[in-house]
Amino acid sequence: MPVVIVVGVQWGDEGKGKIVDYLTERANLVVRFQGGNNAGHTLVVEGQKTALQLIPSGILRSNTRCLLASGVVVNPTALLEEIQRLADINVAVTPERFGISGEVQLILPYHVAIDKAREAARADSKIGTTGRGIGPAYEDAVSRSGIRLSDLFNRDNLKELVRVNVAAKNAYLQSVLGSDEAFSADEIFAYLCDIGETLKPFVSNVSVEVNEAVKRDAIVMFEGAQGCLLDINHGTYPYVTSSNTVAGYACVSAGMGPKQVDYVVGICKAYCTRVGGGPFPTEDHGDEGSLLRDRGGEYGTVTGRPRRCGWFDAVAVRRAVRLNGIDSIILTKMDVLSGFDHVKVGTSYDLDGEAIEDIPPSSLNTGRIKANYTEFPGWSEDITGVRTFEELPKTAQDFIKSVEELVGCRVGGFSIGPDREQTIILDENVKQFAVR
Ligand code: GDP
Ligand code: IMO
Ligand code: MG
Repeated sequence: MPVVIVVGVQWGDEGKGKIVDYLTERANLVVRFQGGNNAGHTLVVEGQKTALQLIPSGILRSNTRCLLASGVVVNPTALLEEIQRLADINVAVTPERFGISGEVQLILPYHVAIDKAREAARADSKIGTTGRGIGPAYEDAVSRSGIRLSDLFNRDNLKELVRVNVAAKNAYLQSVLGSDEAFSADEIFAYLCDIGETLKPFVSNVSVEVNEAVKRDAIVMFEGAQGCLLDINHGTYPYVTSSNTVAGYACVSAGMGPKQVDYVVGICKAYCTRVGGGPFPTEDHGDEGSLLRDRGGEYGTVTGRPRRCGWFDAVAVRRAVRLNGIDSIILTKMDVLSGFDHVKVGTSYDLDGEAIEDIPPSSLNTGRIKANYTEFPGWSEDITGVRTFEELPKTAQDFIKSVEELVGCRVGGFSIGPDREQTIILDENVKQFAVR
């Protein structure tokens, strides 16, 4: 079972980093396939917390090699800062341990400026982006004007690329967005020449590496960022990120055929959160939502923003199971539900009084959805020390079994605290590739 894709199935922050770190003890390659430093993945090992944004969550395992595939957008300054932060805790991110596809698109200062200026201009319809320039960088990729890592190694061509891009971005910022920011082509060219020297040793042919690893039966794990409902095609558009977050995109990004994939693991919180704007049918605006936020420490890893909190949305997760072809769900943050008399689950939707089976394509409609809830008896016990399914209180066991039925997918494991060791895997297939 060597090729595994791990994705978030809600609106991000499901605990992907924690679970990927846990599952990569035996992995050979860990590959990020989309997103950029909008992601914030938190790992806790023996009480020590590490927050990663671009570097795959396999980096704390000394036997893994970590890769960024072509579909990732890379802010070089953010990447170098992250490498330095890891060096500060004695994790050496060397070219032996870390490779980047030459095909990744670079996030440059003008992308960040455009992202921020656009958000500022959106009066009451803010997407609530992370302000990292993600959308503008992906736009350049699709419009075939972006600058890729491999472009840094042909300076004549690079100079012209930078000149054209900087002129276009300055004009757009000033004339359309009313910004007074302007960038210097010479400065950006000099910056990129420096960055090229620093990053050159890390450049890798990711497709060749991945396919060769697959051939020799190595364990290759793909780490998703964001979550299914933030997918550019399938999420709550336009309140989404600018990449495909679903499992299918791992093959596109890495340059690998779809028949190579053996298993898809979906990471899912036992409740639900969202950062930024957009519809959230099971959001709880009352005391229980605040309680989930406090107990779950629901503040953004990247921006520190308080996360909107609500209940497990079985309709949305069922959809994610279908969109990603999920084989096994790992249910995280079960411990946060301890102490609630009743645990609510959104089990069906009404749109203007009519029952609907799925999230409608337009977020205008999604905003009018009313979730119908089923309440399950809660549990009061502290479950952070539990090591088996059987040690869970009966009501927590029943909650997990109900989730399985409602979403149409087995719960192959659960998590009862932020630490690496607070993870219980039930699915034998997952144990086979992941656990000692
Ligand atoms: P990611 O973006 O999906 O990797 O998730 P984040 O790291 O942004 O957010 C998840 C947060 O929950 C982090 O602070 C984790 O340390 C924490 N976490 C993960 N799993 C659990 C769990 O089972 N219980 C608790 N209490 N915290 C968890
Ligand atoms: P991880 O990998 C949660 C959200 C932003 C915003 C929308 C678009 O940690 O789960 P962007 O900057 O991508 O253009 O913002 O997407 N968003 C996330 N929310 N977790 C993330 O990543 C996110 N990455 C982006 O809040 O609503
Ligand atoms: Mg996160």
